[in-house]
Amino acid sequence: MILINENYSKLQASYLFSDIARRVKAYQTEHPDKPVIRLGIGDVTEPLPPACVAALHQAVDEMASAATFRGYGPEQGYDFLREVIARNDYQARGADIAADEVFVSDGAKCDTANIQELFGAKLRIAIPDPVYPVYVDTNVMAGRTGKCVKGRYKNLIYLPCTEANGFVPDLPAEPVDLIYLCFPNNPTGATASREQLTRWVEYARENRALILFDAAYEAFIRDPSIPHSIYEIPGARDCALEFRSFSKTAGFTGTRCAFTVVPKTVMGYTKAGEATPLHALWNRRHTTKFNGVAYPIQRAAEAVYSEDGRQQTRALTDFYLGNAAIIRENLTGLGYSVTGGVNAPYVWIQTGQKDSWKFFDRLLSLAQVVTTPGSGFGRCGEGYIRISAFNSRARVDEAMRRIRNIL
Ligand SMILES: Cc1ncc(COP(=O)(O)O)c(C=O)c1O
Repeated sequence: MILINENYSKLQASYLFSDIARRVKAYQTEHPDKPVIRLGIGDVTEPLPPACVAALHQAVDEMASAATFRGYGPEQGYDFLREVIARNDYQARGADIAADEVFVSDGAKCDTANIQELFGAKLRIAIPDPVYPVYVDTNVMAGRTGKCVKGRYKNLIYLPCTEANGFVPDLPAEPVDLIYLCFPNNPTGATASREQLTRWVEYARENRALILFDAAYEAFIRDPSIPHSIYEIPGARDCALEFRSFSKTAGFTGTRCAFTVVPKTVMGYTKAGEATPLHALWNRRHTTKFNGVAYPIQRAAEAVYSEDGRQQTRALTDFYLGNAAIIRENLTGLGYSVTGGVNAPYVWIQTGQKDSWKFFDRLLSLAQVVTTPGSGFGRCGEGYIRISAFNSRARVDEAMRRIRNIL
């Protein structure tokens, strides 16, 4: 008899985006003549940058010839990619990160989920609210959260992100071991200043806590005072891991390439208090359970750092930021309180109503625009909706025209 992992039964009814997809499908079945515009899920719509496409083609040609064919690559990623990442994303910003501290993978979603394998079962985990649901659900699956009572898991320590704190969480009132931070933030679009990140790094160092810093949206930062990496903060090399992705930076959501930085100086501890580098554990995990990202995909990711690649990815992120500005202007013009959408591709809107799903349904049924109800990201998201800037300009303009008409 196969016993199942009963922690799965503690998960909330369904994954947020499946819920949205179900409602949208039901609406479309009833109203096949009314085309919907999707500004809900954060998936890119524009094609890959030409520099990446050229690199991909060339790498495929290499795979077609016996002289240049490659089989299994290094599980941690090819040196050519790890080196450009360390140089451009870190050393160029004064962050002391070496190529062999970069682990290339097929997604920040998997990495933020899989990293927990390195940790003990009984951790005090701090989770911002609202939050990218993957951090919570994967901890539920791993059995670290306890039961969910009225939308909150018993053993998680929630860090409210509200208008009052500018959607950047305050330090926890009780001691914690593991802290999830994501900036620029999904879903609120908030960014954290150098001073705010410094407070978190100091807290982590003083409390021997670990920060898991998700920087999947760093390419959208335009304000030069905002750090792109946690490692721009002195001391972070000792207390933080960082997750990045080419998904939103370069349109790789369907191409799949990301990376996790594990500095050799970040320690975990045995029960006896013996320090163990997390780098060695993650290296072991990666080599045992992962066989690397496809060679052509890594060449395409490398091209992001070429002269052309930089210009093209900048233009791509500028394009989505242009959409975000249009969304911001329209919703602000309608009198809504709006955050995000400046150094981030998400706009976070205070609906003025108690129930996010009601507002979601209203926009779907009256304007045929799909958004994401804030309550799906946590209790503090109730009353908000998230509008994603990932779509064509024509669709964003049309969605805003429809929203202006009904609100
Ligand atoms: C905060 C955050 N982290 C990670 C991811 C997933 O990135 P990837 O496509 O690399 O798995 C997303 C995707 O929406 C995200 O919003």
